[in-house]
Amino acid sequence: MSSDLAIRVEGLCKSFPVYSKPHYRLLQMLFPRQEGGWGKEFQALKNINLAIKRGETVGIVGRNGSGKSTLLQVICGTLSPSSGDVNVIGRVAALLELGAGFNPEFTGRENVFLNGTVLGLTREAVAAKFDEIVRFADIGDFIDQPVKTYSSGMYVRLAFSVAIHVEPDILIVDEALSVGDEAFQRKCFARIQEIRDAGATILFVSHSASTVLELCDRAILLDRGCVLITGSPKHVITQYQKLLYASAEDAIALRQAIREEGDFPVEAGAPATSSPARQKLTAYWQAGLESESVVEYARQGAMIIDPRVETADGRRVNMLVAGDEYIYRYQVAFDRPGAGVRCGMMIRSITGVEIGGAATSIQADALPTVGSADVLDVGFKFRCLLGPGAYFLNAGVLGATADGESYLARVIDAFMFKVQSDSSRLATGFVDFHVAPSLEVKNPAEFS
Ligand SMILES: Nc1ncnc2c1ncn2[C@@H]1O[C@H](COP(=O)(O)OP(=O)(O)OP(=O)(O)O)[C@@H](O)[C@H]1O
Ligand SMILES: [Mg+2]
Repeated sequence: MSSDLAIRVEGLCKSFPVYSKPHYRLLQMLFPRQEGGWGKEFQALKNINLAIKRGETVGIVGRNGSGKSTLLQVICGTLSPSSGDVNVIGRVAALLELGAGFNPEFTGRENVFLNGTVLGLTREAVAAKFDEIVRFADIGDFIDQPVKTYSSGMYVRLAFSVAIHVEPDILIVDEALSVGDEAFQRKCFARIQEIRDAGATILFVSHSASTVLELCDRAILLDRGCVLITGSPKHVITQYQKLLYASAEDAIALRQAIREEGDFPVEAGAPATSSPARQKLTAYWQAGLESESVVEYARQGAMIIDPRVETADGRRVNMLVAGDEYIYRYQVAFDRPGAGVRCGMMIRSITGVEIGGAATSIQADALPTVGSADVLDVGFKFRCLLGPGAYFLNAGVLGATADGESYLARVIDAFMFKVQSDSSRLATGFVDFHVAPSLEVKNPAEFS
């Protein structure tokens, strides 16, 4: 296998026996040589060929039952292929579907050791990372309870934490992260990005088009056990979505066309209906909605205090309403004099995409000097032009230094908020452009 490849799959087929009656499974075990067998073979993967380069981040998409999990399990070695070859070079850490990986009877603590050693670490190495693993998972005293008592979110927290702390060469994630809450998802995506930046190969299954578009270098569309296309995430996702929404008859022609031509003009989006009377939502504070991925950079003479979002009348809120105005506020305390000071903000998505931000001034207009005991009150009034979902705010203070300008204080994911979903709004995606669609039934003759 060429040295720049991390995973190579050649002619892979995987079939499962399926039995029309449950007791046939038992009969198969007792009398395996019965002529014709007791079950039929179901081919979950058909002649899969893949070459994944070291350092690539590859997303696998496909409808339910298309073979995504089966493929990941064969690559991880938890399922053996019926035929074909799978070569994997490097330490693989996998987060497969719930149920795989942990022994439900053992406690979280025991499973961390079991899992860590299965993934190739010594007991001592797991012990050295244990506190960090538990801190990341953040499941409290449950660490000493049997895993069978965990909620699916707690299970994923611990499993993911182990997977990322073994410093894998190849990280394989099967959809599981969607079980965690948004704060945890953000924390995981931040870690996935770090692992990717460190040069690891990442293979993951996701039903989220935006996640694949944001994170992946390449995507693979699996369809009924076959690789239909691989290519740029944008192209693959477009084809996938067409296939997803096609009727059964259209899908046959579409599959053939995707396979043969590979490229299609993008269709217009679904027609929009006229907007129903808008029910006004109000912003409020939801307890427990907290950023778990706060990273504070080393302070250089300034400290960011109490980042928060307020309504125009000063109420603290974290469940925002699209279209309304808010103020993102924080204070900055200085413990040494500063010069050329300006402050900034940035809104990021769960996967870390920078959606938009601003600074208090351009560099030329920065605050000329601040004293060593001064406190700045910083406010950024903004209109919430975001689609529903969870978002994270950064805060940063810049100052003039001998080398130009650098951060005096900086906090990533300092504050988390959500934009409430509003059934009366038509916007999809991150940004709400206040699109005003029009739709009219016309006689074809009017166009000629
Ligand atoms: N152990 C098994 N025995 C029999 N059939 C199986 C087994 N595991 C998977 N299959 C079948 O193989 C096909 C592919 O399953 P797989 O779980 O890989 O799909 P998937 O693409 O991961 O779907 P999803 O999006 O729902 O997670 C399905 O038709 C499934 O019923
Ligand atoms: Mg699956």
